[in-house]
Amino acid sequence: MLVAVLNGPNLNLLGTREPEIYGSTSLEEIEAQVRAEARGLGVDIEWMQTNHEGELVEAVQGLRGRVDGALVNAAALTHTSLALRDAFLAVRPVFVEVHLSNIFAREPERRHSVLADLAVGLVTGFGARSYVLGLQALAARLRG
Ligand code: DQA
Repeated sequence: MLVAVLNGPNLNLLGTREPEIYGSTSLEEIEAQVRAEARGLGVDIEWMQTNHEGELVEAVQGLRGRVDGALVNAAALTHTSLALRDAFLAVRPVFVEVHLSNIFAREPERRHSVLADLAVGLVTGFGARSYVLGLQALAARLRG
């Protein structure tokens, strides 16, 4: 089973970026946690992060016919990017949306996701653990 993990803008700064909101775990540490969990679940992980909307769109386009599912933290693009939504509509991957912070408890402009209705479900607000919980839920879903 192959799962792609897609990370959007500024997530490369995790660990030092607004730690009171996002915690002090770096993206590399989150990747290590996800890969360790994936090994136990028998899942292969393909990991990427980009600060560029078009690259994320191309990453979603590239999921077609190649991966079983995806974990997606589109970061700020979650709230704004119709281009990204269109890519998900075109490819229709099975994915879980994850966020470190609880986007529904934040500023009004972060309380809406343009991707959420296309996702199997959301894990939001558990810090780095959102990724691991999201992977567990996705793997269970993919196994039916
Ligand atoms: C985030 C929440 C977004 O609102 C924000 O722009 C991020 C990170 C999260 O994981 O909590 O960059 O997706």
